[in-house]
Amino acid sequence: MSALPSFLPQPVIVTRLRAAGCVFAEDEARLLISTARTPSDLTDMVDRRVAGLPLEHVLGWADFCGLRIAVDTGVFVPRRRTEFLVHQAVALARRTAGPTGRSHPAVAPADPTGSLAPSAPSDPSDPLGPPDPEALAVPAGQVPDRPRIIVDLCCGSGAVGAALVAALGRVESHSVDIDPAAVRCARRNLAAADGLVYEGDLYEPLPATLRGRVDILTANAPYVPTGAIGLLPPEARVHEPRVALDGGADGLEIQRRVAAEAALWLAPGGHLLIETSERQAPQTAETFARNGLIPRVVDSDELDATVVIGTMPDSHMPVPHMPVPHPPRCPARDREMGGFG
Ligand SMILES: C[S@@+](CC[C@H](N)C(=O)[O-])C[C@H]1O[C@@H](n2cnc3c(N)ncnc32)[C@H](O)[C@@H]1O
Repeated sequence: MSALPSFLPQPVIVTRLRAAGCVFAEDEARLLISTARTPSDLTDMVDRRVAGLPLEHVLGWADFCGLRIAVDTGVFVPRRRTEFLVHQAVALARRTAGPTGRSHPAVAPADPTGSLAPSAPSDPSDPLGPPDPEALAVPAGQVPDRPRIIVDLCCGSGAVGAALVAALGRVESHSVDIDPAAVRCARRNLAAADGLVYEGDLYEPLPATLRGRVDILTANAPYVPTGAIGLLPPEARVHEPRVALDGGADGLEIQRRVAAEAALWLAPGGHLLIETSERQAPQTAETFARNGLIPRVVDSDELDATVVIGTMPDSHMPVPHMPVPHPPRCPARDREMGGFG
């Protein structure tokens, strides 16, 4: 933390933040002080936070999988729960071996925690420990024999793609978002990894050469039902773009479109991973099955996260009969923001 000479003493900042309803005022004050470049910068940042801007927009970054991800104002703030999607994708990418892109075992056993490394709090109130980026790196002896091809649809800031690149090392990374502000932000976050970021509607801007070759396809698409947007906290409802939240009448419209075309892009044995809510997961999984993917649902109590994974069958893989396997319900699930976003 910098020893910035502050015209606003820390206790004053804490008092202002607390009065504005910031539950973790001490921690936020420390983050603001350590990020501000000048005392007037600090005053400005405190003012914006007190006015209700999300902490990450005030700071200009979010901590995601131990990475500092730039988050511009108006761009969706990557959520801690989405680290679960990354953990699952990393585990699957490591199991996918061989130049043909086939996977074995046919459907990887669920990792009960989805955890590859301790998680890091973007705010220190988070009960989970700090992440160890080294723990996310590909272990010696398991380095894949060709770069994995990963595609992240609805990429927002590019957090998921950046975390996958950091964890997997040798990958070819493609990300897409429809919102130009998100695309600008993602390009910054993925520049060091040579990640390609396209602007457009889902698969539409991707090069056709990727068809049938994608190993890992991720999408944290908007999944809040239109009628539930008004119930979101103001930080999301007011400060994040509607296009990042609104999943249509039942919240699943974009997920359905992602699933409908996935088989065209996935390599044999490749995987589609979509974050959803526990309540929506059975429908998401049915959509996967209807579109030729072998679905399963995984979730994490710790991160309050649910992910549906769909595996593209290959010639060695018997397509099982449904129903979709699903972990037991967690009563704590769906408690926050109705389980969305
Ligand atoms: C819930 S945010 C997730 C952002 C990022 N994946 C993350 O987890 O931080 C959803 C993102 O989907 C984008 N989006 C919505 N509809 C889209 C579409 N049809 N095609 C591409 N991106 C879309 C939004 O602009 C927004 O950035």
